Amino acid sequence: MGNRLEGKVAIITGAARSMGAAQAGLFVAEGAKVVIADILDDDGKRLADQLGDSATFVHLDVGEEAQWEAAVDTAVTEFGSIDILVNNAGVYRRASFEEITPELIDLHYKVNQLGVFLGLRAVYAPMREQGSGSIVNVSSISGMRALPGHAAYGTTKWAVRGLTKYAATEFGRHGIRVNSTHPGFIDTVMLEENSPEVNAGISAVTPLGRKGTVDELAEVTLFLASDASSYVNGAELTIDGGTSI
Ligand SMILES: NC(=O)c1ccc[n+]([C@@H]2O[C@H](COP(=O)([O-])OP(=O)(O)OC[C@H]3O[C@@H](n4cnc5c(N)ncnc54)[C@H](O)[C@@H]3O)[C@@H](O)[C@H]2O)c1
Repeated sequence: MGNRLEGKVAIITGAARSMGAAQAGLFVAEGAKVVIADILDDDGKRLADQLGDSATFVHLDVGEEAQWEAAVDTAVTEFGSIDILVNNAGVYRRASFEEITPELIDLHYKVNQLGVFLGLRAVYAPMREQGSGSIVNVSSISGMRALPGHAAYGTTKWAVRGLTKYAATEFGRHGIRVNSTHPGFIDTVMLEENSPEVNAGISAVTPLGRKGTVDELAEVTLFLASDASSYVNGAELTIDGGTSI
């Protein structure tokens, strides 16, 4: 237990499981109130119950603008403000160029790219009013390098990197910082999309020789969300064991 987020209210999207759930747990342990936002209602509610009075669950499909309003309302009415947004929700389907369909492009676009844009827009006005805020957009090393089979997914992650820079430029004047994280291979449900052979090869190409954990990822998100990073804006931070160098 610490106090690195004492008095702060956060919305974390895709927080019902994996990386988002680890971030929610760490944020609460560091004094924050957290809105767990996801389309997985049962998992999200269960996690909110486990975390106690400092957490609540809201159903949010990040690609649906109207649902964002309800999520921000929940933060403000239940916990009093909105200080932190972690745009963590994401989908990943591995496909070669020949396998990619317009539907697959739409799926990635709606969740990974439009969802981040709508999140930025939803919190901008209340954060601007209070003159402060920290937004962390979860991109990927696929948003920095062209990885095999990642074209549909990775192009949205490049977009998240770009959106972060544009938002950091416009929001900065109002005391709102916007940064992106670029996880490498973090041990979560999402990696089940890869074949066992691909996942077995991951450690081999990682200078640290292993996958990352959700707790290692959460610590970096906490740094960017907290006042410890008060002069960090528009930055991109890799958490990848050195894979992208
Ligand atoms: N695991 C990795 O190795 C890795 C690497 C790089 C980037 N990432 C990124 O990290 C983030 C978290 O991924 P993860 O590994 O924890 O994956 P995960 O699949 O375990 O979790 C993703 C979460 O997002 C939620 N979600 C999906 N669509 C949604 C929607 N429309 N609205 C709201 N929530 C939705 C899911 O229900 C789930 O809870 C994603 O943005 C992912 O692209 C993961």
